[in-house]
Amino acid sequence: MFKLKADEIDWRKPLTHDDILARLNTFSANTIDYRRDFILGFPTATPHDINVEVAQRFLLQHPNAIGLHTKRHEKQESEVGFTGAQQAEREVVYMVADVLGAQQNEVDGYLCTGATEGNIVGLWIARNRFGIDHTAVVASPLSHYSLTKALGLLNFPSASLRLTNFDENGHLAINTLRETLDECVNDGVENIVLFLNAGTTMLGSVDDVASINKIAAVYAREHGVNVHIHVDAAFGGMVAPFLDHLPHIGFKNNLVMSIAVDLHKAGKTPFGGGVILARKNLFANIETHAPYFPGNDHTLSGSRPGLIALQCWATMRAIGKDGYASRAHKLHTTTGAIRNFLEAHGFRCFVNDINVVAVIGEPPRSIQQKYIMHVQSNFPQSSQNAPSVATTVWNIVVMDHTANFLNEFFSDIKQVTQ
Ligand SMILES: Cc1ncc(COP(=O)(O)O)c(C=O)c1O
Repeated sequence: MFKLKADEIDWRKPLTHDDILARLNTFSANTIDYRRDFILGFPTATPHDINVEVAQRFLLQHPNAIGLHTKRHEKQESEVGFTGAQQAEREVVYMVADVLGAQQNEVDGYLCTGATEGNIVGLWIARNRFGIDHTAVVASPLSHYSLTKALGLLNFPSASLRLTNFDENGHLAINTLRETLDECVNDGVENIVLFLNAGTTMLGSVDDVASINKIAAVYAREHGVNVHIHVDAAFGGMVAPFLDHLPHIGFKNNLVMSIAVDLHKAGKTPFGGGVILARKNLFANIETHAPYFPGNDHTLSGSRPGLIALQCWATMRAIGKDGYASRAHKLHTTTGAIRNFLEAHGFRCFVNDINVVAVIGEPPRSIQQKYIMHVQSNFPQSSQNAPSVATTVWNIVVMDHTANFLNEFFSDIKQVTQ
């Protein structure tokens, strides 16, 4: 890779085809490739090959997926002309719902840009259900920064955010949750939005949604408060439900009202494969009058790429539910092996729930230079995790491409620790 110059762009005349290809080659050379490079710490993978065919077939058809398509599908309820792409999207939503423990008639959903939008929409629904004045958003400090965006956009004052503790492996701390809820109620809060994580960005830690749901249900009964659980399952949504050792993160928990999942992370689809699901009819809370197409709009986006709906559909059908399950098991097993190896070579790791090994401290310089990874300094602290205080954390997100360089990574680690 080399440095790209900032160009003076004179684009009055069209470039020749050859010139366009030459520039595209430069852009390509300056863009990492999961099939070639040492991508250690990104939560994404090369999309399934079928996506090339789908793009070739549908790109020029230019389908628009605007609107929400699961509301009712016996009559036209959104933009006319795209019934095919809308059906593909509906099926994608229902396949993801199935992974998350919901029947088709129990949820609505749509494909969004990613979990950032999914989290915004989940909280938008919650805010419109409850209002702002007597509502608190309870979340772990390890939550993704899209939560901050959502709270700002939705006009929640900063005092609405109540941070919980997290345990030594990054789970929202169950043992002090009631204290946080008590603080809310003592301050006059009547509605609680619990923002939970199924795969925190750096640790991959999956909150015990089932136990938290139980605690919240008892608490709601005792104190007469309303609860909306939103699960940010950006990364874990297509992994955690397949791993038997993890408690259920989805809609079988009765207070889980909305879930954001990224198919473009663990689902092997191109970017733009976010899915936001909410219990049936909750999207009515964000209805916007759409004067020029039937049925109004129940999404944040406006025009949306129908192509991604078709690509997600084709990817999910090409892999199949069993395929995702066996892949999740395989990646999880490899993750355990990597953690054991690193611990045997003196690294301190968090216990992994899914296919992420999070390592405490700075990565060795040569590893950081060779491998593409995330290193987070100023890692949040919790009163719960004092024994394993981590100020800097780096991680290995174990994906399909990790196998390409795993032996090399092991020998690089051996070399730096000799
Ligand atoms: C836990 C979590 N939530 C939300 C997001 C945001 O996802 P996106 O970038 O697809 O909007 C990420 C991104 O890495 C994430 O790790």
